[in-house]
Amino acid sequence: MTDDSIYGHMKDEGVSRRDFLKMCGLAVGAMGMTSMPPLEASGLPATLNHVEKKSIDHVAKAMETQPRLPVIWLEFQDCTGCSEALTRANAPTLGSLVLDTLTIEHHEALSAAAGFQIEEAKQQAMEKYAGQYVLVVEGSIPTGEHAAYCAIGGRTAEVILKEAAEKAAAIIAIGNCSSFGGLPKASPNPTTAASVTDLITDKPVVNIPGCPPIPEAFVAVITHFALFGVLPELDKLNRPMAFYGKTVHDRCLRRPFYEAGKFALTFDDEGAREGWCLYKLGCKGPTTYNACASIRWDSGLSFPVQSNHPCLGCSEPDFWDGGGFYQGQSAPLQKPSMTTAGVAGAAGLAIGAGMAATAKAKKENKK
Ligand code: SF4
Ligand code: SF4
Ligand code: F3S
Repeated sequence: MTDDSIYGHMKDEGVSRRDFLKMCGLAVGAMGMTSMPPLEASGLPATLNHVEKKSIDHVAKAMETQPRLPVIWLEFQDCTGCSEALTRANAPTLGSLVLDTLTIEHHEALSAAAGFQIEEAKQQAMEKYAGQYVLVVEGSIPTGEHAAYCAIGGRTAEVILKEAAEKAAAIIAIGNCSSFGGLPKASPNPTTAASVTDLITDKPVVNIPGCPPIPEAFVAVITHFALFGVLPELDKLNRPMAFYGKTVHDRCLRRPFYEAGKFALTFDDEGAREGWCLYKLGCKGPTTYNACASIRWDSGLSFPVQSNHPCLGCSEPDFWDGGGFYQGQSAPLQKPSMTTAGVAGAAGLAIGAGMAATAKAKKENKK
């Protein structure tokens, strides 16, 4: 092996200097260090200004000296949606991030090992990288009934979290469940679910909420820590300012309609078809801090409001109990049949009603 640095690892993997610099450029863009011009397919942009060049040099230097960052990823009361979303990150891709900048020492869903084998490997990694690893937590932690609702390898989530947190250099709570309690904490909170910051108070914790969160926000925070050993600037809810400093409403493409007082009143009226503001259908964009309206999802393709869905406020505490558009919409949901109700439950009902509305809109359009 050439050396222990991130660049050393990349060289051993056969990455050329040009591709290395391209990766540095992607990292600069991902961390929001400067607004990079679009990259050409073959590498860096043809022209770079002074600030962009300096930022890339800065990142390249860090990659040439910093070792790869060990990561231990724990999952508790979650749906694995946050991990799933991360596999859609495109800047840099999860593949390049995992292979080049981080070493994921433990992740239940991504690991080939299972049972006692994976638990033993996790213990060994925690010893080997004590004080160096970043602990990533996905899912909330149950504390009721002696914390018995979630146990892995015979130990409760609370015990596992506290043990891993003790030796971590920093902690990232990914998703609303671990940041604020998320769906498991919604009323009546049967497991007395808690967030990471409810239980860990003596270590820096970065919250990256969302359900799931924008993957680029996670990529930026962890790349920043891997390269410079410090966490980015946070807001009062421990969210990185670069991504949660403005509301969805601040940058929403429907904002001109809001200002003009043009609102959709049902999901299939003329306003909805014309792309008018969804505020009167319960949109929480004005009180939700997140970067969806600018970064968007799936390589910048779209985000909920662009796809005719009011913002639910998924990056804010207690958003499920806030009701989102399910409580705020002006048109009442259609009453479901008993069979549907029995099988699907409340969430299924809302989706069913949404599909019915879409079908109706299509029928109207056809007419
Ligand atoms: Fe799943 Fe949402 Fe919780 Fe992430 S925040 S684990 S996507 S329920
Ligand atoms: Fe604001 Fe929502 Fe209207 Fe967009 S759709 S302008 S976020 S209220
Ligand atoms: Fe969540 Fe609202 Fe963005 S629901 S994904 S914060 S538009």
